[in-house]
Amino acid sequence: AFNLRNRHFLKELDFTAQEFRFLVDLAATLKAAKYAGTEQPRLRGKNIALIFEKTSTRTRCAFEVAAHDQGATTTYLDPAGSQIGHKESIKDTARVLGRMFDGIEYRGHGQTVVEELAAYAGVPVWNGLTDEWHPTQMLADVLTVIEHSTKPLTEVALAYLGDARSNMGNSLLVTGALLGLDIRIVAPRALWPDEEVRKAAEALAETSGARITLTEDVAAGVAGADFLYTDVWVSMGEPKEVWAERIALLKPYQVSMETVRATGNPQVKFLHCLPAFHDLGTVVGRQLFEETGMAELECTDELFESAHSVVFDQAENRLHTIKAVLVATLGG
Ligand code: CP
Ligand code: NVA
Repeated sequence: AFNLRNRHFLKELDFTAQEFRFLVDLAATLKAAKYAGTEQPRLRGKNIALIFEKTSTRTRCAFEVAAHDQGATTTYLDPAGSQIGHKESIKDTARVLGRMFDGIEYRGHGQTVVEELAAYAGVPVWNGLTDEWHPTQMLADVLTVIEHSTKPLTEVALAYLGDARSNMGNSLLVTGALLGLDIRIVAPRALWPDEEVRKAAEALAETSGARITLTEDVAAGVAGADFLYTDVWVSMGEPKEVWAERIALLKPYQVSMETVRATGNPQVKFLHCLPAFHDLGTVVGRQLFEETGMAELECTDELFESAHSVVFDQAENRLHTIKAVLVATLGG
């Protein structure tokens, strides 16, 4: 077994494939125990701080329910309700919260912020999403792929379509490379992950045997895929003004039943980290529709609601995988 006690969870590149896989396997064990009603609380007496400088549904709730299932308490610091970054530096915040809490989750903007928090907190810090990486999402995505696949991970082909110059593009490329997948980024060149991230992925692929493809060609990129994955075209923290340009660039990369057919795989599964723009059920979606005439953006409602879609299994797995991170880094 692997000892991850007192380790931070900041980005995928900090972990070996074996350590990453250990966390996913631990999540599967914790999930089975919860279903069977035999979960043992291993975080009694622990107190956890949850800092969110960007909004969240899944990540916040997963941290809270995971902590409570395991006997720990949580304190939520919302994007407006703390001094962080406005009146008090990250370095000082880290040293204050580190005196009170046993672990700290942070969702925010730059990766350097969560790295600084980790450097000064003296307790484990977990990245709940930054502009650059979304590592807890990767654990849930890998668990979902394992659950919905008959092949070993090293034979799975996963194609990510859309904005790949983002936390999700970076994280999926690096995670796919780490675990030896056939990982494909299908996006306009202007929205590919940065050179530095691509280099890191290529270096990992040398050991893992991963196949890495970056292509602008949808048909070639999705052929034979086992999983199609997409994310919003504009991420949190980006200005509203980029929507028009993104839509123009990404329209051909919308994931639909046509994309499903292009894989040639009738069993292909659809993943999305969520939230998704697939209907007019949101305020932002309706605004976008008024401005652009598009009611569906990164994926169609037909696909989202189809039998290919495993997005709610994926969302549930945020809970079990975040619990694995808490138990592995804080548990006795
Ligand atoms: N996928 C994800 O991180 O969702 P939230 O923004 O709701 O946490
Ligand atoms: N790329 C998205 C992911 C949300 C979970 C964002 O950063 O807004």
